[in-house]
Amino acid sequence: MNTPESRYAFFEGKIVPIEQAKVSVMTHALNYGTGAFSGLRGYWNPDHRELYVFRPIDHFERLTNSAKLLLIDMPYTPEQLRDIVIDLLLHEGFREDVYIRPLVYKSELGIGVKLHGLKADFTMFALPFGRYLEHDDGLSVCTSSWRRVDDTAIPARGKISGAYANSALIKSEAAMAGFDDAIVLNQDGHVSEACAANLFMFRKGKIVTPPVSANILEGITRQTLFTLFAEEMGMQVVEREIDRTELYSADEVFMCGTGVQISAVTSVDHRPIGTGKLGPVVAKMRTLYNEVVRGNLPRYYSWLQPVFACEEVYAD
Ligand SMILES: Cc1ncc(COP(=O)(O)O)c(C=O)c1O
Repeated sequence: MNTPESRYAFFEGKIVPIEQAKVSVMTHALNYGTGAFSGLRGYWNPDHRELYVFRPIDHFERLTNSAKLLLIDMPYTPEQLRDIVIDLLLHEGFREDVYIRPLVYKSELGIGVKLHGLKADFTMFALPFGRYLEHDDGLSVCTSSWRRVDDTAIPARGKISGAYANSALIKSEAAMAGFDDAIVLNQDGHVSEACAANLFMFRKGKIVTPPVSANILEGITRQTLFTLFAEEMGMQVVEREIDRTELYSADEVFMCGTGVQISAVTSVDHRPIGTGKLGPVVAKMRTLYNEVVRGNLPRYYSWLQPVFACEEVYAD
C-alpha cells in the first residue's frame, strides 16, 4: 500500500489540512460502499519543470456518470473538478509523479440501505506515486476463480466503491497464490479485464480487447490506446469477446489503466505468452505512452493539464 504523504485534501467544499478531512463511522458510504471514485495520474516532467495531469476532464465525466448510477448529482462540473485538482496540487507542490483520488460519496449518517434521498459529498486527495505493479514488464497472472461484477448486479462501467470488494477478492486470491495479478471472466465465461485494469491481446496481427458490454470499466487508458494504436502504429483496435484460452495462444498480452499504465503479461495460468518475454508491440506502446503522458509529444498536449503553469492564476 502507498502510505499517505499528503498534506491537504479537498473536503466539504474547501482545501483543508489532511488531518481535518475525516468522516464519521456512521457515514453511509463507509457502511454500504455507496461512493464512486476515480484515479488520475499526474506526471512530472523535469525538463519542463511541470506536472501534467492526464485527461482530467475525461476522468471527471466518467465520475459524473458513475455518480449518476448511485443517484448522486455531482456538486461540481468536470471543469470545476479540474480546477480543484490544480488548486490541490498547487497546495501540495509535488514535483514528482502523483496519483489523485477524487471520491463522491453518500455522506448521510445512519442506518438504512438505499440510494434515494441521501445527501452526498465530494472529496479529493493526492499523493506521490510511482509504479503500481512491481514486474510491469513481465507479469505472471492467473485466471481468477471469481467472476467480474455484472451490469445486472453492480454496474462494472461505474467506478463504484462497493464493487471494489470484487476486485479485492480477485487481487488477494491471485497474490496469495503467488501471481502478480489476475484475469477475470464475466458471467458468460469470456475475458472481462484484469483486477483493476483493462486487458488487450495481440494475436494474428490484430490488437483485440473485450467490448464495453463485457462488464469492463470503460478505461480512459484503454480509450487512449485506441487512438495511439491507430495514429502511431496504423492499427485499429478490434473490440470483440475473447475466450480465456485464446490468451494462451496470443503473441502478446498486456493490461492498461491509470495505475498499471501499460504492463506486459508474459504468463497466463502458467503458460508463457509468445516468447514469455516483453514483446515488441507492448514495448513500443509503453515507450510511446510514457512520452505522451509526460508531455514530450506536443500533438497530444490536449490530453494534459499543466499544473504549475496555472500558478499565477490561482495566486490571484
Ligand atoms: C476495474 C478497473 N478496470 C479498468 C481500469 C482502468 O481504467 P482507467 O484507464 O480509466 O484508469 C481501472 C482503473 O483504474 C479499474 O479499476
